[in-house]
Amino acid sequence: MDVYEAVRSRQSIRAFTGEPVGREVLERVLGAAARSPSGGNLQPWHIYVLSGDPLTELKKRVGERIAAGDRGDEPEFAWYPPNLTSPYRERLHEMGARRYEAVGIDRDDAAGRARVRAENWNCFGASTALFCYLDRDMPAPQWADAGMYLQTVMLLLRQENLHTCAQIAWSEYHRTVAETITPPPERILFCGMSIGHPDPEIPHQYSVRAPLSETVTFLD
Ligand SMILES: Cc1cc2nc3c(=O)[nH]c(=O)nc-3n(C[C@H](O)[C@H](O)[C@H](O)COP(=O)(O)O)c2cc1C
Repeated sequence: MDVYEAVRSRQSIRAFTGEPVGREVLERVLGAAARSPSGGNLQPWHIYVLSGDPLTELKKRVGERIAAGDRGDEPEFAWYPPNLTSPYRERLHEMGARRYEAVGIDRDDAAGRARVRAENWNCFGASTALFCYLDRDMPAPQWADAGMYLQTVMLLLRQENLHTCAQIAWSEYHRTVAETITPPPERILFCGMSIGHPDPEIPHQYSVRAPLSETVTFLD
């Protein structure tokens, strides 16, 4: 698979088969992803890979919190600016509309939407997930480094015929994640990532992008 094909074929998968992902594959991918660039070569990411009993237990504990009506922990960082302006607001709205339409859930069906969202904390059925932490005192450039690292992981997993979904949703239950992982207290959870084989019975959505002219300016 060439790099273009890896980039083109990566898409967020939200229904996995649950087939296990081999430890040797994960070690190969994470070993190679360590070559990701980072400012000052800090390599600020701290990655925890969960499968088997620890992941089952984490899914169960968050599932119990959701079933009890618990809306999550106090946020440790903002996902978006408080007033999302154009064109980002429209892009976010379109993404949500397409996602819920694909699974036949009406915009006004709050319970249906919550059910669909809750699949996040079941890793969409995947049997493997990784969790990316950073040291709390790391400013924006190191968060960008972590993003580059995670994209490298996602592309390398394509070479292994695996798919992913990055999941900031896990930060909503960061306390339960931390109880399972027990990271040092100076670390903050950025996001999770489900890893596995797409469920062939489910149609998987391929998202749209803004035209190049909206996001790239050539000065020549
Ligand atoms: C840092 C990050 C966090 C994300 N968090 C979630 C999430 O919590 N749940 C989810 O379903 N998708 C999540 N996504 C996936 C995005 O919605 C997705 O990348 C975007 O809509 C583009 O679609 P594509 O990945 O299929 O190209 C996340 C993506 C990134 C990069």
